[in-house]
Amino acid sequence: MNIPYLDLKKVTAQHGEEIQKAVAEVVGSGWYLQGERVKRFEANYARYIGTKHCIGVANGLDALMLTLKAYKELGRLKEGAEILVPANTFIATVLAITENGMKPVFIDIDEETLDMDATCLEKAINERTGAMMLVHLYGRCTYHESIKQFCEANNLILIEDNAQAHGCFYKERRTSSLGHAGCHSFYPGKNLGALGDGGAVTTNDDELAATIRAIANYGFEEKYVARWQGRNSRLDEVQAAVLDIKLTYLDDDNRRRQALARTYYTNINKGMVRLPSFLDGGQNVYHIFPVFIERRDELQLYLKEKGIGTLIHYPIPPHLQQCYPIWNKLQLPVTERLAQQELSIPLNPTMTDEEAIYVVEALNSFQKF
Ligand SMILES: Cc1ncc(COP(=O)(O)O)c(C=O)c1O
Repeated sequence: MNIPYLDLKKVTAQHGEEIQKAVAEVVGSGWYLQGERVKRFEANYARYIGTKHCIGVANGLDALMLTLKAYKELGRLKEGAEILVPANTFIATVLAITENGMKPVFIDIDEETLDMDATCLEKAINERTGAMMLVHLYGRCTYHESIKQFCEANNLILIEDNAQAHGCFYKERRTSSLGHAGCHSFYPGKNLGALGDGGAVTTNDDELAATIRAIANYGFEEKYVARWQGRNSRLDEVQAAVLDIKLTYLDDDNRRRQALARTYYTNINKGMVRLPSFLDGGQNVYHIFPVFIERRDELQLYLKEKGIGTLIHYPIPPHLQQCYPIWNKLQLPVTERLAQQELSIPLNPTMTDEEAIYVVEALNSFQKF
């Protein structure tokens, strides 16, 4: 069998005709930016997430970066503010902070739950702390009542990085509607993926929404009137049309992901391999299915020989990146260990049960050596 980590051609082909038709309509319309399709998608996505506003932007990094910039312009976060962020995240979460002249305070994680370690959080707080970035990494909801209480008690702005968790729930509410703002990436491989780059911010805050919308459009509050020093970061009509179609299938896709994940949780032998704690009730939309194992590189090679594609999310945590020499000496032991042990095995809605069982059998047979 040959099971690539992710076959985007297959993913798009699931709704190929509808997508081709929608793209052709945009091409024929002569209207490519700031049109009705973006408006429609923004309204539909806001309704889906359960927020008053959705602002389409160019990508997920911009969603995060513009959100922090808007808070700065509104005087609600200051240059130099400390922002709590899980140490095991994709670098974009951290880039958004440093790009705004703020300081990431890296919080190590709990090895079982992958949530931020509560003791580390308590130690990190001081009078300069302004916000928390909550990253629903791998599609796992990492919001809890304790996070809400912690943010309220310390007067923190709560920003959710929902790039990997479209459609995920916490109780009856979707992630990215739980804090003050939610940031989304529609990178093609995401659960809700475009045919190129795309992103969005969701929020109930009128002033924040208007500011982000303006900053993403040169800072214009109205045409050619720049209230802020903005930039150009917009979702385009082709991507909005495609996303609007794919949004209607997102919950079905996530249910399929959850069924495949159940197959993995039930059948993978947990000898050498460790799985994160199981989350029930729609609280995990399995953007990525991580397994942790000391002999990670050997396992990756073994699976490759069996025709199974895997990826590593992520091999170098942000604080150890060359671009951040001042943090290279920080010690965040759990994050650093997991970066050496993590392997993402294939999981996406186009996979068959047989393919999932083949992956399980390969993993289990490796553990016999
Ligand atoms: C957790 C997380 N945050 C932010 C981003 C940035 O999104 P984008 O690639 O659209 O800039 C990504 C995805 O790539 C991500 O996985």
